Amino acid sequence: MSESTPAPDRRNFLAKAAAVVVGGLISVVAPVAGLFTLLDPLRRKTDTRGLVRVASLASLATDGQPRKFPVLDTLVDAWNKTENVPVGSVYLQRTGDATVRVLNSVCPHLGCSVGYNASTHGYFCPCHRSSFTLDGAIADPKSPSPRGMDELEAVVRDGEVWVRFQNFRKGSPDKIAV
Ligand code: FES
Repeated sequence: MSESTPAPDRRNFLAKAAAVVVGGLISVVAPVAGLFTLLDPLRRKTDTRGLVRVASLASLATDGQPRKFPVLDTLVDAWNKTENVPVGSVYLQRTGDATVRVLNSVCPHLGCSVGYNASTHGYFCPCHRSSFTLDGAIADPKSPSPRGMDELEAVVRDGEVWVRFQNFRKGSPDKIAV
């Protein structure tokens, strides 16, 4: 036996020590990875509630006609960061030199996509015929929607419209964030 070859007892000890170390690492890493997976939806929800740049102020009509825009956000989880993910859409309506009204395009009744009708200057949901005024209020009292369209917080910064995008519980008279 050469001097550099460990004795059998020493080899056994090293193999057992390595097994203990690797086993210990796996027992720590696996639960942590599982926890990240479990919390992933919560992390994504939190990220989609930040301010998101939606459009330039200059792209909005100055006569008060709203325009629909997709909302693209960056989603982050434990392993991935995905940019430009569609998370919804909004109507932007210029209400002043640097002020904008933002309405979530989802119908508060059951979640269909609300359309804008330029000839009536109002919003209309084709699913169950709810109608809304330009500021999002219910236009026709026979509308089944339990509340008006959901207005979102927005800021205009350096000529860009930034929106705090949120969805709200459908079918409820109260505006409850989900
Ligand atoms: S989903 Fe819009 S009226 Fe029912």
